[in-house]
Amino acid sequence: MATRLTIAIDGPAGSGKSTIARRVAAMMGYLYLDSGAMYRAVALKALERKIPLENEAQLTALARESHIELKAPTADQNAAGLKNRVFLDGREVSEEIRTPEVAQAASRLATIAGVREVLVAEQQRAGEGGGVVMEGRDIGTVVFPNAELKIFLDALPETRAQRRWKEHQEKGEIMTLLEVLQEVRERDKRDRERKVSPLVRAKDAVLVDNTAMGIEETARLIVFLAEEREKSEVTK
Ligand code: CDP
Ligand code: CDP
Repeated sequence: MATRLTIAIDGPAGSGKSTIARRVAAMMGYLYLDSGAMYRAVALKALERKIPLENEAQLTALARESHIELKAPTADQNAAGLKNRVFLDGREVSEEIRTPEVAQAASRLATIAGVREVLVAEQQRAGEGGGVVMEGRDIGTVVFPNAELKIFLDALPETRAQRRWKEHQEKGEIMTLLEVLQEVRERDKRDRERKVSPLVRAKDAVLVDNTAMGIEETARLIVFLAEEREKSEVTK
């Protein structure tokens, strides 16, 4: 009987984490968990309540009183490209959390230690027991430092921006490629330079640059590595 691993995938915006993590989870029969969706959901709530993004105490309290649930998409939603269903206090916010405005607010809110503490504890609860692929920025470093397989997924900024721009185009959102590139660069900088749990490759994470790799190819590479790990866990 193969052991059920914990697979941590971290990396910058647009590197393919959600798409690839979801594909890997489907191929392995694992649960897929998008930690970024949790930061986005709290950010949406803060924007709706007009809570200033500098107010650390109020934002920490907001994270604590929020109920966030992640669910698998329905067949129709899947076909429409939705990767994850997100419920905030019982209300579906899957689409609303995907705007550039919410992404920026999430990355500001993610610099607050109190907010991170609340969400990290929830992520650890959701992933306990293994058989999960969780993706974000600090999964291999903070949330699951003992994950059996850690991947740091990367791609050139221009490629990542191009991928995001294409998604906005498909949704009919008008943004120039340069605007998307600036949004991605700004968020990457904040994520990499923040004091608490910055985006950094864990020492034992495998660096996978998928600038010139397709989704399927990248997912298969990760599944191959996971199967190797499963075998070595069994013989341990
Ligand atoms: O979650 P993250 O921001 O890291 O990226 P994503 O939302 O999974 O991927 C951004 C876009 O890039 C999606 O539309 C993917 O389909 C696409 N992508 C791609 O075209 N080729 C890859 N190797 C990886 C992602
Ligand atoms: O999909 P994309 O990679 O653009 O972003 P996301 O994964 O949905 O995350 C949105 C923001 O949440 C990021 O820019 C980070 O600031 C924050 N985040 C984080 O700090 N830690 C995580 N584990 C996941 C997301």
